[in-house]
Amino acid sequence: MRFRTKQVHAGVEPDPTTGAVLTPIHQSTTFAQPSVEEYMARGYSYSRSGNPTVRAFERKVAILEGGADAAAFATGMAATNAVMLAFLNAGDHVVFSDVVYGGTHRLATQVYSRFGVTYDFVDTSDAENVVRAIRDNTRLVFTETPANPTLKLTDIAAVSEVTAARGIPHAVDNTFLTPYYQRPFELGADLIIHSTTKYLDGHNATVGGAVVSRTPEHHEKVAFIQNATGTIMSPMVAWLTLQGAKTLSERLDRQSASAMEIALFLERHPLVAQVRYPGLESFPQHELARRQASGFGAMLWFEVEGGLEAGKKLMDSLRLWTLAENLGSVESLVTHPVTMTHAGIPREERLRIGILDGLVRLSVGLEDPADLIEDLAEALERI
Ligand SMILES: Cc1ncc(COP(=O)(O)O)c(C=O)c1O
Repeated sequence: MRFRTKQVHAGVEPDPTTGAVLTPIHQSTTFAQPSVEEYMARGYSYSRSGNPTVRAFERKVAILEGGADAAAFATGMAATNAVMLAFLNAGDHVVFSDVVYGGTHRLATQVYSRFGVTYDFVDTSDAENVVRAIRDNTRLVFTETPANPTLKLTDIAAVSEVTAARGIPHAVDNTFLTPYYQRPFELGADLIIHSTTKYLDGHNATVGGAVVSRTPEHHEKVAFIQNATGTIMSPMVAWLTLQGAKTLSERLDRQSASAMEIALFLERHPLVAQVRYPGLESFPQHELARRQASGFGAMLWFEVEGGLEAGKKLMDSLRLWTLAENLGSVESLVTHPVTMTHAGIPREERLRIGILDGLVRLSVGLEDPADLIEDLAEALERI
């Protein structure tokens, strides 16, 4: 089956008892067992360890990514944490992309550091930097591409070649492009992480996460952590995300087309100092964006002339764009990463990796792009 068929049907089938076309929300803590001898005969015992609605979502995301299996989590951060817990012990070392979601940075620097895990944040856009950063005790390479919020890309195939040769798992955060546009397993990655809060749900309705493993052995490790740490997704969230995922390609295609229009508008505007969108020819890694993914996504950022103060004024002047932290939803959102999503990263480090004080991040939604552009034009006029 092709992707658009799979996104509707994969993982779900009419309920065998009632014929309900949508997978029911199995809102139950526990599951009656046929007998002591046949414990787990139906596959479920307790909803922390597994739940049929959650399982349907796990199957869908595993099939969409082309992995062996998936585990769904309460949040994207719980998914990232599960990968770290599954593959790291005290004394181990991790190589991260230098630009990652602020929560991933916080988890490494403020939580894992307390348990003797060391790390390096390196520019993974050049695989040679990964080679140089790997030590004898490196047990995980974690990349995010496109990275939040600068959109810097990592060449997944080049980094996977480095990790595969050394037997180190390569985990890719595929939240921004989703399996519809980017297929990390086909490029050699071992694990895929999603904040399903973003495009997989797509409606600003849930927070959730998923880890897809290429091999059953890796999945077993991740699923063990899901149960052991009690971080599984809830049935209601799984049900909502199952419905959202069915329209992933339609949303992403439209939102990405709008993002391109908006990027071109901003690029031509005299008050815009710079704009970054992987689909623009001016994007520094435009060629890699074309080669590695089948779409450019619906995230972009820009900086206005006048830096931080002008940027703040612009964000406060927007009417249709909502100033908020999330991304990937049908509602267009504007975010100031420095005070919001990436506030925890020290300023010097932020500036070094290109998270500028006045960076304005846009998550383009499903509204008519002409309305979105009009709103931006008026806000630019006001500054
Ligand atoms: C790329 C990326 N990964 C992971 C996360 C964390 O996901 P969640 O907020 O669902 O915990 C985010 C959140 O913004 C993100 O943008």
